[in-house]
Amino acid sequence: MQNVIAIDGPSASGKSTLAHRLAARLNIPCVNTGSMFRAVALAARRAGVDWGDSAAVTPLLSRIRIDYCRNARGEWDLALDGAFPGEALRSTEIAAGASRVAAYPAVREALKTMQRALAGTHWLVMEGRDIGSVIFPEARFKFFVTASPLERARRRLAQEGDKAGGSLEEVAARIAERDEADRTRAVAPLRPAPDAVIVDNT
Ligand code: DC
Repeated sequence: MQNVIAIDGPSASGKSTLAHRLAARLNIPCVNTGSMFRAVALAARRAGVDWGDSAAVTPLLSRIRIDYCRNARGEWDLALDGAFPGEALRSTEIAAGASRVAAYPAVREALKTMQRALAGTHWLVMEGRDIGSVIFPEARFKFFVTASPLERARRRLAQEGDKAGGSLEEVAARIAERDEADRTRAVAPLRPAPDAVIVDNT
């Protein structure tokens, strides 16, 4: 068994908020694996590499360094090559790139190695899509957080406003579409581990 609390679920389900609060309450690190995929997308962008070109993205993996450490505000945050990209990771553009590179088996393998290396004897909260199912199948605690597409669209609009790109119904439809793609993709589909506790966070 690994001393890991795995929190998986689709985007805007509230899993990051939950993961951060839980980690703060327990005073243990919180690792957001989505930001690792975003970091790969950002590194590709900085290197002038096309996200659609898997043969060019793959060699970047051995050249970049990703760490998880406390930022200036004391929060657990991702550092790329020794600096915190912060907001640069959170743009909708980089999210689109993250989604592209997350489909490449070589990217998932490299990040799996990094994610597994973060766990040790100490406890850790790790959130993502496949933490309980693929990365830490032996995690001591597994939660799968969901919420209805409409509620997730509401949260996204409240968070991003105009940047969410459309009306409530349009955003909800895109979320439902993305869920379907995530559930049915060949590599690491978004599915709860069989032993995960399902949390309906609507
Ligand atoms: O949660 P997020 O929006 O930061 O995730 C960015 C992208 O990475 C998103 O397309 C889903 C993908 N991802 C993944 O495939 N596996 C994970 N463990 C985490 C994120």
